[in-house]
Order: sequence, then structure tokens, then C-alpha cells
Amino acid sequence: MIVYLEKTRTFYLQGKHVSYIFAVDAYGHLRHLYFGEQLAVGEDLSFCFRDEDKGFSGNFDGAKDRTASLDTAFLEFPSAGMGDYRRPALLVMTQDGARQTDLRFSSFAVHREKVPPEGLPHVRGGETLEVMLRDDMYGLELSLFYTVFDDQDAVVRSAKLVNRSGGDLRVQKISSFSLDFPDASYDTVCLYGRPCCERMPVREACGPGIREFSSALRGSSSHYLNPFFALVRRETDENAGDAYGFALVYSGAFSLSAEMTSYGTLRVQGGISDCDFSWLLKDGQSFRTPEAALVFSCGGLGGMSRAFHALWREKLLPSRFSGKPRPVVVNSWEAAYFDFNAQKLFALIDAAAETGADTFVLDDGWFEFRNNDCGGLGDWSADRTKLPGGLEEISAHCRERGLAFGLWFEPEMVSEDSRLYREHPDWCLKNPRRGPVRGRAQLVLDFCNPEVVATVYDKMARVIESSGATYVKWDMNRYLADLYAPSLPPERQQEVQHRYVLGVYSLAERLTQRFPDLFMEGCSGGGGRFDAGMLFYFPQIWTSDNTDASERAEIQYGTSLCYPPVAMSAHVSACPNHLTGRTTPLASRYSVASLCAFGYELDLCALSREERAALARQVAAYREIEPLVQGGELYRLAQMCRDGLYAAALVSHDKTHAYVAGITGQTNANVLQKRLKICGLDDARRYRVRETGTVASGRALRTMGLLLPPLRSDFMPVELHLEAEPEKA
Ligand code: GLA
Repeated sequence: MIVYLEKTRTFYLQGKHVSYIFAVDAYGHLRHLYFGEQLAVGEDLSFCFRDEDKGFSGNFDGAKDRTASLDTAFLEFPSAGMGDYRRPALLVMTQDGARQTDLRFSSFAVHREKVPPEGLPHVRGGETLEVMLRDDMYGLELSLFYTVFDDQDAVVRSAKLVNRSGGDLRVQKISSFSLDFPDASYDTVCLYGRPCCERMPVREACGPGIREFSSALRGSSSHYLNPFFALVRRETDENAGDAYGFALVYSGAFSLSAEMTSYGTLRVQGGISDCDFSWLLKDGQSFRTPEAALVFSCGGLGGMSRAFHALWREKLLPSRFSGKPRPVVVNSWEAAYFDFNAQKLFALIDAAAETGADTFVLDDGWFEFRNNDCGGLGDWSADRTKLPGGLEEISAHCRERGLAFGLWFEPEMVSEDSRLYREHPDWCLKNPRRGPVRGRAQLVLDFCNPEVVATVYDKMARVIESSGATYVKWDMNRYLADLYAPSLPPERQQEVQHRYVLGVYSLAERLTQRFPDLFMEGCSGGGGRFDAGMLFYFPQIWTSDNTDASERAEIQYGTSLCYPPVAMSAHVSACPNHLTGRTTPLASRYSVASLCAFGYELDLCALSREERAALARQVAAYREIEPLVQGGELYRLAQMCRDGLYAAALVSHDKTHAYVAGITGQTNANVLQKRLKICGLDDARRYRVRETGTVASGRALRTMGLLLPPLRSDFMPVELHLEAEPEKA
């Protein structure tokens, strides 16, 4: 619900349990008043705010006295050069070289139907408030968009700048959102990592200065820091306390920051990274930022995560796949790497069919000149030495065995030893005066150039169509480095990172339009581009190349802080694990992967008859709990690095059943049996635990917990099914 009260010039945005409130002050500045637990519409918050004269805080031109300073005000979208010494949300250089914008309120509109930001992924539905501000001196118009939903604890923000100055402007920074908190007694929780170790939660107290989470210059959201962070009170834990979450619906170079000021207040903002960014905005043109989702929960980090999960599941993931069972995949990568031929694939497909899986995905290595990772990218024609009958024969074999066929692509890349590169050496990102920066021996195509995107689209569409693939794994195995696009003039070279991502989105959009039933899985050297932007096109993303069950447990834990289980793709792989050399029981590998969009990635033909039978039982067991992966509520119960075991519960919305799964850590001699407290159940109901026969109330399971079986070896599976006992009439 969106309400504007004229008397106090205040906007009230009401979500399911949250309120976001701001007002227009006497000067026309937008003052942020509140974001958090729901307050009543009409609540006058002016008692909480008083402007004071603070030395060295500038007074803008026209200020009636020395108390009127933007430096100490709580603002919705601060701009530069007006005496606010915190980071601006907007920094624009006008034709005269000035970088001083003064945007004042002009009008607002409420859109019952959202006008989607063109070319950008976005959250669907909700009611949108558009607040228009103007700088008449320079002919700037800024629209701030706020979307709220009756059924979500989120506010989605973005901004649009229009140039009506009569000349060119250079946008040097434009955030998706900014807001100020009255104090900085918070911890930040970010998701930090590297390839094979993505999204490790790191919690640190806010302190003076700016804490920035950014993937600047990598050109993608990256393994390093995820475009998400949480702000929690010091006492907030998994199940209780205030927790704010900020996530960008964006896959490019981003920045999110928390800035503690001289006066102990906190400015939080985020959007496209302003490091090596500027955008030439011609007269009459507009620039739209990506969206940012802001959520709040007083139910701790767990509550914040569930707020994000609901938002992404219901309003972001491609709706045509929602509520439908996810394909159980057998992927060829760890089974065969580059070393296969048609016979080997047939055997793998036959074995995959025996397990009851739905889709066979042929990973890297199927195209010409691809016997290792040094070449072959860009042409996308099947290697007839390995596959004499082409992809068509593999795909037909899948269909005969009742499986759908999926295929790996790395659309954004090119190998120098390819026809594409030989014909169009200027179609990749590189400074023509220098040698290219290679990553995994490959170059990045210039996706700023629509002709390049159109060519890649044609090539992919042809292969998808002729092979009958219904599933695509879209990989991206390096970061951008030489941020120079031959297709752009010199004055637009700082637009490369953003234009590149727009090109990626346009390719995903075109493929979606052409093949509405094509199921695309995102991937980037594992989970290097796991963000809400990609999830608008890809219903799931490969979470990490690290498939070691005990390490994967930690990665899934961190990823779930922002992203729902159904969006995380997870596979059972072989042991000893190819990355860590660790051996974990097959049942434990299943237990960890079963909490996500599930599949296999190992040489099924090398398994014993018993192991293959076990796989078939696992697939059947997964189908039973799959609706909980799709739409259940996730409760994180234990974290490997903190508790020595990993466990999470998926609970049905009506709380009648739950699935608890995970893996124990290393065992020790002579220790007491571990207890696992199970949250998310109905306190008042009694539950039967299928595996142990225990019957206990939800309250007892939450407060006392269940005794896990004695740990007789390392990395044992945790797997429990709970059913509520029928309620007495
Ligand atoms: C990346 C992916 C893997 C696999 C390989 C193929 O590393 O994360 O799953 O597809 O590329 O080269």
C-alpha cells in the first residue's frame, strides 16, 4: 500500500510487515524517515528529527539558517556538492564541468502496474511510487521508484535520470538506492569468497569510515563479494533480532556500502560500481539504474533470508517454471571432462535413465577444437570426431531413454584459435594498442556491440533448435579485464562494464523469447555470477564447482542467506572428491545436495550395481521432498564452521511436514551425542520423526532438539522427515 499525506508531505509505503517512510521537507529535499517494522500510516515521525547547527557541515544556498544542512539530514538520494560530506548517490558532471546537482521534489505518481525497466532484470508486480525531482538550473530530472507488495517484506528501489539540459552530461555515479540510519550500532554480514569457496558469510561491526562490498573492475558480480549484504543489530542471531538485507538485481560490477559518519549515523547505498564508470548522457536521453531490494525482518538472519527467498521465488524467478518440478540432472562434466566419445555418452545416458533422472546435460568439450580448455570457444559446431552422429544423435539417444537433453555453452567468450576470432578480431574486449589479457586462455566478446550479441544468438539458436536441447547451462569462465570495447567511441569506454551486462541480458532475453520452454542454468566458474539479476532469466544457478559435501555445506549455508534453495543447483559427485581428495559417504553427498535443485555429476558407469541402485532410491526420495525445495521455508539449523555440522530444515507453509538434511563434521572419540534443535515448526503441534519414531511437540523440538545418532565416523548424513500428527477434532 502506498499513501501520501499532504499535510506532512509524507509517503508511507506499507509491505506485509514493514514500513518505509519518507517526507518532502520545506526546501523540497527528500528526507528519509524510517525503514523497519511496520508503523501505522499517518504516524507523525517529526518528533524524532531536529536539525542542529554542526560546525563544518555546509549550508546549501537558500538555507534559512545554519541548522539547515544536508550533511546531517537523513536523505533518500543525496547528490554531490551541496555540503553533504557523505557519499553521494548521484554525481553528474554538467557541460560546464560543474559536479553540483540540487534536486528538489516536483511531483509524484503511483503506478498500480509496474512499468518494467527496459533491458534490465526486475522484480515483478507490486505497486510503484515514482517520485520526481528536478534541478532546474541544469535541466535534470530524477525519478525515484519504490515498489512495495502487500505480501512481501521488501521495498524495491531504482532511479532514472533524464537529461533535459540541452547539452551532454556525464553521469559519474548513480546509485540504485540510498538511505540513512540514525545510528551505526550494527554489524554487516557480507558474502565473501573465491572460486570453489563462494559466499562465506563474514560478520563485522560497523565502524568509522566506509565499508564497501564491491566487485569493481571484474565486470560481473563475481566470486569475491556477492551483491548482497545484511545489516544486523549486535544481538541479532539466526532466529531473532532486527536484520536488514540489501541485494542488487544486477550481475555486473557493483558497489554496496555502509558509511559511518562523524555523528555516528549510517548511510547505506548501492548500485553500479562507480569505479571506472561514467556514462555519457546526451540531451533528451535517460539512464535507468538496476533495481535493489531492501528487506527487513525482526526474525533474525533467518527471517531476513526467508523474506528474500519469498521475494525472489514469487516475483523474480521466471514464472513459467515456478511450481513445476525441477529437472533432476545428470551432468557429464565430472564424469568425463573433455575425454569422451559418443559410446561413452550413450553408456552414461543409459545409466542416467536407470536412476530415474530427467535430463542429461552434455557439459564442455562437445564442440570442435575442445580437448582441453585452451581453445574452441566461439564457433559452436559439434566435434564430429568425438560425436560422428552430431548432437542430434546424442539428443535422440536421450529421448529414447526418456531423458531430456541439455547442453553447455559459454556464449560470452571466444578462443583466438576460432573462425569467429579470425573473421572478427575486433569483436572482443581489448585495447587495440596492447596484447589482450587472457583468462583461461580465452577472450571476452564485446557484448557492448549488438552485432556480436546477434551473432552469438544466431549460433546458439541454431544449435538449440537442431539438437532439440531443452536445457542450457550458460557458463562464464573468466572476469573482464581489458575494459575496452572496439565498438564504442573513446568517450564511452567507461560504459563498457555496464553495457556488457546489458548485452548479456539482451541475449538471455532473446533466447527466452525464442524458446520459452528452454530451461537455462547459470554458471560462472561455479557460482561466480550468483545474483538476482541472473535469476530473472535463469531459474537456477550452479552454486559452486566445489562438490565436496562438507565444503559444499558451508557454501550452501552462505548462499542461502540471500538466495532460495530452489535457485541453487547442487550435484552428488564422485569420491575421493576431485578438488579436495576427501571421501564422504554417498548418502551424505545426497543429503547435502537434496536441499537444493538436485542432480549428479559423476561417472555413473564406474559405480557398483549397489551404488546405482542407491542412486535410483535417492532420485525417488528427492521427488518426495522436491515440493519443499520448490516452495518450503528454509530454516538454517547448524553451520559447519560454527557447530561442527551442517543442517537445514525445509518446512511446508502449513507446517504439517518438514525435511531436515545435512552432514556432520569430523568426529571425535568419546563425545556425547549431538542435539539438533529444529526451528520453523508449529510449537503447538506434535510431530513424528519418521527415521527415529520420536514424537514430540514443535516447541520441544525447537527448544530441546533431537538427539542425532551416535557419530561413528566422519561426515555422516543427517536426514529426517517430520510429519505433524493429526489434530484432535
Ligand atoms: C566451469 C563450470 C563447470 C564446468 C566447466 C567446463 O568451471 O563451473 O561446471 O562446466 O566450466 O569447462
